[in-house]
Amino acid sequence: MTNSDTPAVRITDLGKTYPGAKVPALEGVSLSVEPGEIVVLLGLSGSGKSTLLRHMNGLETPTEGAVVSLGEPVAGLIGRHLRALRGRIGFIFQQFELVGALTVLENVLTGGLSSLRGPRVGIVTYPRALREKALGHLDRVGLLEFAYQRADQLSGGQQQRVAIARALMQDPEILLADEPVASLDPESSGQVMALIREIAAERSLTVICSLHQVDLALSWGDRIVGLRAGRVVLDTRTDDLSREEVMEIYGRVATTTSEIAALEDELAEAREQVRSQEAQRAASARDRLAEDFANEEPA
Ligand SMILES: Nc1ncnc2c1ncn2[C@@H]1O[C@H](COP(=O)(O)OP(=O)(O)O)[C@@H](O)[C@H]1O
Ligand SMILES: [Mg+2]
Repeated sequence: MTNSDTPAVRITDLGKTYPGAKVPALEGVSLSVEPGEIVVLLGLSGSGKSTLLRHMNGLETPTEGAVVSLGEPVAGLIGRHLRALRGRIGFIFQQFELVGALTVLENVLTGGLSSLRGPRVGIVTYPRALREKALGHLDRVGLLEFAYQRADQLSGGQQQRVAIARALMQDPEILLADEPVASLDPESSGQVMALIREIAAERSLTVICSLHQVDLALSWGDRIVGLRAGRVVLDTRTDDLSREEVMEIYGRVATTTSEIAALEDELAEAREQVRSQEAQRAASARDRLAEDFANEEPA
């Protein structure tokens, strides 16, 4: 159980080395997030953002140290206790992870599955109250009119909003978001990030969101935790931060305006590369999922 004195997440000296890896993915990470905080995990690809987020709801097991989420020591939980904790923590992903061949409404309904017994096939097999709740969340994210369309007919930004509606089905206390806008164009990115903040405020959610875009992190988060090579190299309120400080996350310190400008160009290029690779990967992942679904025998 939690009360207002319990941190939403408390991580102490967390270390993680994946089996067979030569270097740790996380090392000596300590971090406490208070209820209602809006925190950005900022770092380049490979810095450990996803690994850290995945420890918070027990998707990874620490090699060293401890993770306590909503007052529960995560590594000690198994079975229904772990499921119960995960029910209190929503997770949204870069690739949305929707089932493309299902309707938008069914995708949202799957977020409420943990409250039901057994698998469901088809909208009418869900209790009416759950269907109404799902439609309410779709309305909130501005997609009610798309409820009966196939999810893969929606744009990336719309799909991520569906994923947010799906996460809301479990009435989460914490929302973890792993690069939620990395596959989106700038306009949809802005809309999705704004929506996350609005919903967080409405529901007093704690949000921990990984990003690799410095500007977005600075403008969106209340607090930035910078990761580099699995270590926390920065942890401060965004108000207190300058762009130069943030650049240190990227391994170098720029001292003159022209150096900062050069780094910015470099970063923009790197981001563009990452974005196009990620968009390609997203597209092929979606195709695979749709194919799997098409090949699956009807139940
Ligand atoms: N399942 C895994 N098995 C082995 N190594 C992994 C796995 N997931 C991530 N890593 C490694 O751990 C490091 C941190 O990765 P990750 O947490 O995905 O970083 P980020 O999300 O910041 O890109 C990287 O070196 C990555 O290659
Ligand atoms: Mg990642």
